[in-house]
Amino acid sequence: MNICFATSECVPFVKTGGLADVSGALPKALAQIGCNVKVFVPLYQSIHTDKYDLIFASDLYNTQIDADTYHRHFNTWYGKLPDSDVEVYFVDCPGYFHRSSTYTNDMDEGERFIFFNHAVFSIMQRYNWHPDIIHCNDWQTSLMPAMAKHRYNWDSLFQGTASVLSIHNIGYQGRYGQHYVHSAGLPQDFFYPGGPVEYHGSFSFMKTGVVFADAISTVSPTYAQEIQTPSFGEGLDGILRTRSQDVWGILNGIDTTDWNPSLDPHIASTFDASSLEKKLINKKAVVEEMGLPYREETPVIGIISRFANQKGFDLLKPVLENILYHHDVQFVVLGSGEQHIEDFFNWAHTAHPDRVGIYIGYNNGLAHRIEAGSDMFLMPSAYEPCGLNQMYSLNYGTVPIVHKIGGLADTVQDYHEHHGKGNGFSFYEFSPHVLRDTIVRALAVYHDKEAWNAIVQRGMAQDFTWENSANIYKELYEYAAGKV
Ligand code: ADP
Ligand code: GLC
Repeated sequence: MNICFATSECVPFVKTGGLADVSGALPKALAQIGCNVKVFVPLYQSIHTDKYDLIFASDLYNTQIDADTYHRHFNTWYGKLPDSDVEVYFVDCPGYFHRSSTYTNDMDEGERFIFFNHAVFSIMQRYNWHPDIIHCNDWQTSLMPAMAKHRYNWDSLFQGTASVLSIHNIGYQGRYGQHYVHSAGLPQDFFYPGGPVEYHGSFSFMKTGVVFADAISTVSPTYAQEIQTPSFGEGLDGILRTRSQDVWGILNGIDTTDWNPSLDPHIASTFDASSLEKKLINKKAVVEEMGLPYREETPVIGIISRFANQKGFDLLKPVLENILYHHDVQFVVLGSGEQHIEDFFNWAHTAHPDRVGIYIGYNNGLAHRIEAGSDMFLMPSAYEPCGLNQMYSLNYGTVPIVHKIGGLADTVQDYHEHHGKGNGFSFYEFSPHVLRDTIVRALAVYHDKEAWNAIVQRGMAQDFTWENSANIYKELYEYAAGKV
């Protein structure tokens, strides 16, 4: 089965969040169960072709796209996902992709990704490669199902091609002006109030994907249900409900070659479930790296996050001072994003320089060291389609404290002293005092070494490898293929 996997980010080449981890790992897992996957990603300025030994596809030199309203040329480079034979194709068009960041607020943001969607079709055409499935991800590639059906349907190469849209985050929908309908090569008469591509007067890329994809997946079973409700559907719940048979929730896995405490080259000391005492070496190392005084018995809570409203830090603002006043605990925080959240953590660090260590920015090595060295990991997300860090945490013996929604609800089971089960701590009511109570509950259990160790062991024993999920994606591909 030939799978065209189109994505706007992919580890190790370019990453802003979990989509990159998924794009770097799922195709490999699919290849291992017999799928022939090709990954397509833009060649952003940040991707250095020499660093990854990418090869220039001279046979595709200067491919032209006639996208009705504009004419652009692009080049193609290719390489492989590390430790695999999965080919990755890079769309090289500096005019669109040499910007200071992966995503922008530039006027042509929608156009950049329309172009990328066209380019992926062009590469398949130039190689005469028939995809059985086009698997697109989030709004940046979600026009492809409609384009396959209404722009490229003249080409017999795409006859019998089915499409799957994976929603990694419905909070970002890609809404742009009506004039882009033409650039995408779609019929103008798709655009009318309530029509297949229209959402509140704009051209919604995500809605278009939801309408035209043969099957839809999202990244956890709970989020698959949630997005069909007004509270989480961000306006697309109604249309998703009309397709509820076709909406599958498939939990992300984690790449256990990259995130594995017994192999991790980024951390001070590798360890596994039978050598947890070595976690202390990592704890000391990360606490000191973050500029805090180290005390073995002081619990350390890690945070690694995009600083976006989604991530729920507004809950922590009103109670952090209270927690620090009453409890012996330190925080190590890594992240960047919205100014008000950066300001909050900057303030916390200034007010408590020996209790709150911060790194504002992106730092992959430090992310590994925080996972390895923290005792607990905090994710109070308002919504979380899947979330990867709680799974990394469980794997690294770092106990997650989470809001019980989305993928967090599917992966973290609340510890309760009465039944002695659970791999972490979770809360349902989204309020600051409930967050505080949950952190305080975790801090209390932390000092019961036997109970704590059992929680850690239960987390480390869990299997979050991609194999299971890849098998379900394959079933989804077969389901989608059955529809064309
Ligand atoms: P999202 O995709 O919504 O940001 P996920 O939990 O799925 O959330 O994935 C986030 C990924 O990005 C994780 O691999 C996490 O370690 C990484 N990450 C987030 N912020 C940073 C940062 N500042 N530095 C390094 N890694 C980060
Ligand atoms: C999104 C979601 C996150 C998910 C990731 C990968 O960025 O916010 O919850 O883990 O995609 O699917």
